[in-house]
Amino acid sequence: MAVSSLSQDLPATKLFSGIVMYQWQGYWYPPSHLEAAMDVSKHFVAHPDDILLAAAPKTGTTWLSALLFSIASHGLIPKEEAHKLFSTHIPYSTLPEPLKDSGSRIIYISRNPRDAFVSLWHFSQKIQRGNSDPLTFEEAFEQFCEGKTAFGPFLEHVLEYWKASQERTQNILFLTYEEMKADTKGGVKRMAQFLGRSIETEEEVEEIVDMCSFERLSNLEVNTSKEKSPWAFFPYNSFFRKGVVGDWVNYFTPAMTERLDRIIQAKIQGSGLQF
Ligand code: A3P
Repeated sequence: MAVSSLSQDLPATKLFSGIVMYQWQGYWYPPSHLEAAMDVSKHFVAHPDDILLAAAPKTGTTWLSALLFSIASHGLIPKEEAHKLFSTHIPYSTLPEPLKDSGSRIIYISRNPRDAFVSLWHFSQKIQRGNSDPLTFEEAFEQFCEGKTAFGPFLEHVLEYWKASQERTQNILFLTYEEMKADTKGGVKRMAQFLGRSIETEEEVEEIVDMCSFERLSNLEVNTSKEKSPWAFFPYNSFFRKGVVGDWVNYFTPAMTERLDRIIQAKIQGSGLQF
């Protein structure tokens, strides 16, 4: 079915990437992903050995995918266990019930919302399309505060996976970009352990970390290309920028800092989650 007919009754808005997005089950979707999300939620056939990498955009999905793939292909997961590896931005509440019930393992990566927004802003500048009058940083910030981003509201996305990870510790591993940056080797070991296999040698861990480092991945020829990837419609080079923690301080005014702090605190209060 065409996206236009699927989405005709859904709320729509033009977000700062210049793309019209549709709100479905409480979250905003670009048209290209809406149909896929609807299909997945209806027709996904789950297998208990599936491994899902879930994340809101701009939180380190590309990095974690590379790490996960490397862990799997390093034989740290027995082959028969690595049944299917997926990565998705779909929120927890929309994941297919059979997948949640199947015992599949989910690794979620979260990120400081301030850095995720700055990263998203830069990304939107690179992919800007169909928008003759792009929003300013301040206007985009307002949209982010209102929860209007692809696969947003961002804070709800993180909170849903956070809460689920507290209840289903065997099935959901909740990681953050910040802790992965601070101790990547430790993160790789946690991922491997969670997937049912303790790490074999320290050298192997180091090899995986080095293979997936920002420097290495961003300098690979394919990732310096401005060509569009067939799977995401975005230039390959748009997935790499600075790869650091705390860049938001270079962009936020004191008023922005205060406004987002208040929103974050109101949302995460009592959840045990911290940013
Ligand atoms: P910045 O824009 O802050 O640099 P995603 O993959 O979810 O789209 O996230 C993109 C963010 O992850 C970007 O953040 C990008 O630079 C960063 N990133 C990509 N590869 C990385 C890596 N190997 N190590 C650390 N950060 C990485």
